[in-house]
Amino acid sequence: MGYNVAIDGPAGAGKSTIAKLVAKEKGYIYVDTGAMYRALAVHFLECGIRPEDTLGIVGACKDADVSIKYQDNVQQVYLNGKNVTSRLREESVGNMASVSSAVPKVREKLLELQRGLARSEDVIMDGRDIGTNILPDADVKIYLTASVATRAKRRYDELREKGIECDYNEIARDIEERDRRDMSRETAPLKQAEDAVLVDSSEMTIEEVVKEIIRHCR
Ligand code: DC
Repeated sequence: MGYNVAIDGPAGAGKSTIAKLVAKEKGYIYVDTGAMYRALAVHFLECGIRPEDTLGIVGACKDADVSIKYQDNVQQVYLNGKNVTSRLREESVGNMASVSSAVPKVREKLLELQRGLARSEDVIMDGRDIGTNILPDADVKIYLTASVATRAKRRYDELREKGIECDYNEIARDIEERDRRDMSRETAPLKQAEDAVLVDSSEMTIEEVVKEIIRHCR
């Protein structure tokens, strides 16, 4: 059994940034489970399925095989043998993943992949239901959050830095909508595990959050 750190929280709380830094410092493998949901979303889109077509999504699960490999410690996600990592951040993929990840069959499909990685390696795994559902016996559980205003501001600055025009209020609305979807779905909703440490990064720097999490690791 590997040493397992679970890190859950809403979109935009900084989970992946923080988890990568903790992984580097502690020598863990960083497992991004959102990327796996996104890879399945690529498959559904390639099949021409619309997000609201739940039956189509369920049906298409049987022809999708997601696997991951590591290249210089960076996770690469494969869909039916093809590396789809560069497509995962597309807007349409994110939107599909946000809807299709609520479908139980989709979650079932990724369960063993995620548990298998945690069994064989020391991992820091980020997602929405890692501490509550995937790794209930994780050695460390962190629930990383930040206020909607903070997350919206970070996203706004990030987009502006890339030269992308955007509207702060629209971003904040999107974040609230995604939180609502992630927290209210029936299967594995986003919530803090009872034994998770709550870290609110609203008023913290990246370095402070990393330090706080490492404090809880062996
Ligand atoms: O963290 P992310 O934005 O890459 O995740 C993409 C989508 O997948 C997001 O809408 C939430 C969902 N997800 C999930 O339901 N369970 C996880 N363990 C990880 C992500």
